[in-house]
Amino acid sequence: MAHCYGAAVTLAAFRQAEPRIVTVTLCKVEQIPEAGALEVDAPDGLDTLVLMRFGEQVYAYLNVCPHAGRPLNWAPGKFLLAHGQLVCAAHGAAFKPEDGSCIGGPCRGESLTAIPITIEDGEVRLAQSAG
Ligand code: FES
Repeated sequence: MAHCYGAAVTLAAFRQAEPRIVTVTLCKVEQIPEAGALEVDAPDGLDTLVLMRFGEQVYAYLNVCPHAGRPLNWAPGKFLLAHGQLVCAAHGAAFKPEDGSCIGGPCRGESLTAIPITIEDGEVRLAQSAG
């Protein structure tokens, strides 16, 4: 799992700050394998995020499966991608990277929780509106 925050920042700290846009760097784009996934810590310190990259496009979701609330990975930092889809290691639900929708398995029709990100200066950044 990547740990690449520039500073220890929590969502609670974001919300207590004056209203403004706060950004947190999650990782460098190049750390995410092409057509693969990277696990990074969520700023809340409780969950992790899964970042997927296909060319220049990066997608970010909470690493929690909508079926049974379990992590999607089969080992720390290890995700199964098959036929361009993210597959939950627990019971095999398949998700489209583009929108996080489940297109096969026990939670078909549900979706992963998307995390808003931006790509700037070769970094994947999480943007939070505080206040
Ligand atoms: S927890 Fe992901 S498919 Fe069941």
